[in-house]
Amino acid sequence: MCGIVGYTGTTPCCDILIDCLSRLEYRGYDSAGIAVCENGGIVSVKAAGKLKHLKAKIADMEKPKGTCGIGHTRWATHGEPNDTNAHPHGTDRVMLVHNGIIENYKEIKSFLTEKGYSFYSQTDSETVAKLIDYYYDEDPLQAIINAKAHLVGSYSLGILFADRPGFIYALRQDSPLIVGKGTKENFIASDVPAILHHTRSYYILEHDEIAVIAANQVTFLDLEGNVIAKELHEATWDIDAAEKAGYDHFMIKEIHEQPSVIAKTMRPHIINGMPDFSDCGVQADDLRTIQKLHIIGCGSAVHAGLIGEYLIEKLAGLDVEVSIASEFRYRDPIIHPGDFVIAISQSGETADTLEALRLSKKKGAKTLGIINVVGSSIARESDMVCYTQAGPEISVCSTKAYMVQMTTMYLFAFELAYIRGSISAEACRYYVRQMNKIPAQIEQYLSDTSVCQHAATHLKDANSLLYIGRGLDYCLSMEGSLKLKEISYIHSESYAAGELKHGTISLIENGTPVIAIATQSSLIHKTMSNIQEVKSRGAFVIVVTTDRHTIKKDAADFVITIPDNEEILLPLLAAVPMQLLAYYTAIIKGNNVDQPRNLAKSVTVE
Ligand code: F6R
Repeated sequence: MCGIVGYTGTTPCCDILIDCLSRLEYRGYDSAGIAVCENGGIVSVKAAGKLKHLKAKIADMEKPKGTCGIGHTRWATHGEPNDTNAHPHGTDRVMLVHNGIIENYKEIKSFLTEKGYSFYSQTDSETVAKLIDYYYDEDPLQAIINAKAHLVGSYSLGILFADRPGFIYALRQDSPLIVGKGTKENFIASDVPAILHHTRSYYILEHDEIAVIAANQVTFLDLEGNVIAKELHEATWDIDAAEKAGYDHFMIKEIHEQPSVIAKTMRPHIINGMPDFSDCGVQADDLRTIQKLHIIGCGSAVHAGLIGEYLIEKLAGLDVEVSIASEFRYRDPIIHPGDFVIAISQSGETADTLEALRLSKKKGAKTLGIINVVGSSIARESDMVCYTQAGPEISVCSTKAYMVQMTTMYLFAFELAYIRGSISAEACRYYVRQMNKIPAQIEQYLSDTSVCQHAATHLKDANSLLYIGRGLDYCLSMEGSLKLKEISYIHSESYAAGELKHGTISLIENGTPVIAIATQSSLIHKTMSNIQEVKSRGAFVIVVTTDRHTIKKDAADFVITIPDNEEILLPLLAAVPMQLLAYYTAIIKGNNVDQPRNLAKSVTVE
């Protein structure tokens, strides 16, 4: 949510900043801007809309030639997305880019107004720039420290001072920031993919730390101004993973990456054919003694958690509660010391999930993060961490990250059930063997996507549609519905099939599409009755099922058949047509699938 970058080195930085920003556009695309130190001052260029508008503006002017600058791609929080509200913000002396929210910006604004400052934008960020300017008296560090004492909220900042050309100052509180280390050049960025083309070495700026970055040196300081030592990390992500590699969109590329990232995610957690999370610090004793398990997350991550809930209750007989992190935080959840809390997050930076994790820790829970981004806040603050291996997910609409979150939930449920004695070693090995078949089955399914393309033609003109299912199919239907509405902008709801007749069935009109997921043998007869109920009221029914079930001709208008496997594993296979249906519907409608309207990835604001 908002991406910030910075470069200081020996090369004119304008193109480098734009290149780095282009790799962060998934964090917001309401506006973009850069500021570059030049001729004793700071030149800034900014434009509303996507990065291409900024590029066009720069192409029409004399390009800034300075070798030190900062850049920003915005997801608007305060103030509409226009040129004026675009970052960078500041004065002749100080310019900054900001990711996060300053909660007390109104008080800061009044304070500065009394001191004679005026404001041109509606942003919270401008107040921070002006506060630093207010405190600036030839000592950038002191100005930043003084200003920070006023700030309430979350922020990462990249700051330039006109009389300190060649230096970028960075400050972090909650919102993520890394410092990339190159040769005679250094960087700042909100996320690793932004700098992968230039360097793989990076430091993670922690809360309450300041970085002073020059071409040849990076210094880290605490808020007392003491120099601190930090560990240098090496990014293991493949550079190509952050490129489209010949695909039309990141989303479809990431869907096709699923077989390999699922296999990669499983590998470290299967030892001698049995699930094993000991490398994440999860001890058998911890699992044996859990009284209650909580799973928290947002969006697709919480949907993966729901699959986990069904599995763990069924296989391990353990009490599980899944919560949307933004609700969990404010409802005073009952957590007893010793309860086990799993926080699921791709970015590891989602503000609500992070705060829910902190609350759980405060209440004495043991916490496990299931996280994709190495070194992210939730990963660092969890007692134990299990990294998923999706690699960089660039498409705003999550596919492969959700899939590896589910994969991890499966293996975790198997281990939990085995350790607690509710399934035998033999059964556990069998499930793992069946899991190992999933990557090849998805690969094979993806070799021909024509059925989903065809089905999408039946959805494109709908104003509204329903996803239904029972049990695990219901959990998956929530993800199917989210994918579709997120990128096709068609309203959809997901409903437990048995719940329809308690109100929702009144939405069914002639031609209303209903996507029914019906893979579970024990429930299919009931689901088929619910399908019959909507069909007889005029619904256009698409059924997603496996070969083992025969769907009578008059029971559905369209059948999507997924490969078969052990029944509890079928959500991993049925998820793929859900993603493809959303993708192709959005494509037919001409939508920008990688950058859906109003959205951004890595939701670092509440
Ligand atoms: C949907 C989607 C979001 C994220 C949610 C949580 O396609 O991407 O719903 O799943 O914002 O994000 P993370 O996993 O980064 O915490």
